[in-house]
Amino acid sequence: MNAAAAVLCGLGTWLPPQAVTNDDLARELDTSDAWIRSRTGIGTRFVATPTVATSDLAVEAGRRALKSAGRDAVDGVVLATTTPDRPCPATAPLVAARLGLGTVASFDVGAVCTGFLYALAAGAGLIAAGTVDSVLVIGADTYSRILDPADRSTRAIFGDGAGAVVLRSGDATEPGALGTPVLGSDGTGSELITVRSGGSREPLHTFGTDTGADGRADPYFRMAGKAVFRSAVERMADAALSAARRAGWTTDDIDRLVAHQANLRILHAVADRMRIPRHRCPVHLDQVGNTAAASIPLALAHAAATGTLAPGHRTVLTAFGGGLTWGACALRWPDLTPA
Ligand code: UT7
Repeated sequence: MNAAAAVLCGLGTWLPPQAVTNDDLARELDTSDAWIRSRTGIGTRFVATPTVATSDLAVEAGRRALKSAGRDAVDGVVLATTTPDRPCPATAPLVAARLGLGTVASFDVGAVCTGFLYALAAGAGLIAAGTVDSVLVIGADTYSRILDPADRSTRAIFGDGAGAVVLRSGDATEPGALGTPVLGSDGTGSELITVRSGGSREPLHTFGTDTGADGRADPYFRMAGKAVFRSAVERMADAALSAARRAGWTTDDIDRLVAHQANLRILHAVADRMRIPRHRCPVHLDQVGNTAAASIPLALAHAAATGTLAPGHRTVLTAFGGGLTWGACALRWPDLTPA
């Protein structure tokens, strides 16, 4: 018997209400709307208020994805995040409980900006194994909590948000059925995107003690932007082409390439490298910035709501992030209403 395919059947998103424009940032930092727009394509991002944590965003997006799927229950929750509510325990069980899902399987996935695609692959794998029949896959991040307030290069890019999909077991020929995911990593680049302190290598409580780490703790997210730029383009393009091949599609067959919304220049370079017209690559970062694990479901919902993404479109999802990590997955877009 063939393993069950995972079919995407619901999509929900949530953004915190506070918008931060480029001009807002320029009032605090040595930057400008012109620089941010021309170097990244970003115009606005949303930031959670201090009492709102990643689980709060994840619950809102999860609730909407369940509504979009017409369900009030699933058998599991996989949450992709780099900004869990706490270092321990995982945030997914709390999200599952707050959604009223009972004692279902739930865990977090950490693959930074590729997190949503790793979580999607994990959810599909649980369905193929028969462990669950349906699963809520959420990408949620609150990067505003880990950005250095003085770092204009990361503050200009990242925003908070959450997006979620419901996967159910079904047939590989159905619209929404996920193709075989493509996943990869290269830990030799782990320093390029990092929060250096606060883990087991440099516990925060050891700084300033006799036996502690040298120097000062750095609890903030750091990114060597230029160094990851080229890798992001190559890895996202190559992973997307592999995912399309696994689906039996040529480049021309790809109707929509929904790529992690890191930077408009990266989106254009990925499309150019793949030799697909740029207009097939939906853009959402102008409105929300780079929302890390949430970026693909947020971009999907925006594209579906605006008609850029239509039922039947042969769609490839692709992402790149810290780790380094990357991934891609193909599906024929299903007929659903994002919530
Ligand atoms: O999401 C996961 C993966 N992440 C990515 O894929 C991000 C990839 N990288 C990028 O998107 C870009 O590299 C950035 C947007 C982060 C930076 O753009 P860039 O064109 O690569 O600029 P750069 O880092 O080479 O910096 C050029 C200059 C520097 O000044 P100096 O050293 O030449 O004087 C920066 O300090 O631009 C400066 N700069 C800024 N200036 C005004 C950096 N950020 C800003 C800013 N406003 N916000």
